[in-house]
Amino acid sequence: MDDLSIARALHVISLVHWIGGVSLVTLVLLPGIIRSVASENRLELFETIEGRFGFQARISTTIAGLSGFYMTHRLDAWDRFADPEFWWMHAMVFIWAVFTFVLFIAEPAFLHRWFHDRASKRPGPTFALVLAMHRILLFASLVTVGAAVLGAHGAI
Ligand code: HEM
Repeated sequence: MDDLSIARALHVISLVHWIGGVSLVTLVLLPGIIRSVASENRLELFETIEGRFGFQARISTTIAGLSGFYMTHRLDAWDRFADPEFWWMHAMVFIWAVFTFVLFIAEPAFLHRWFHDRASKRPGPTFALVLAMHRILLFASLVTVGAAVLGAHGAI
């Protein structure tokens, strides 16, 4: 087993944890809370559960990024970023950059406070907005996963 295969396995394991977690939050947790939990109790429950995942997602996005850049280096594939045919490489870096920005910069700097304040005053519209944002990110992430598998195996 060579280092490239190990990096590829780490890449996929971290993606399963990270995008799988985003799926659970988007498709199960948020709709369940919106449907079944009284407005005044939503915020505390969501923050407790998502806060725990947010911490774990910081670890998995970091491993996904490190293993991704390592594979790019090992495959000597940097020139793919200059070729639109390899749009799925751009898509991977874009998704990673969005999540990295949200988890490491936006949440600690302002997003968490903004969400807490807004959800305390107007839980209904705030949870609807958060669900919509999660749906967009999940959709883009899943398209990227599919395109990256096809691209990495020469099918597109
Ligand atoms: C810094 C960010 C990232 C970089 C630099 C990166 C780079 C790479 C590279 C170089 C490969 C191997 C391509 C090949 O074998 O030709 C790869 C594979 C892959 N990446 Fe990424 N990636 C990143 C983030 C992501 C993200 C965010 C996703 C999903 C949303 C993703 C999904 C995949 C998948 C599914 C594969 C294919 C694994 C396989 O079937 O062999 N990557 N990535």
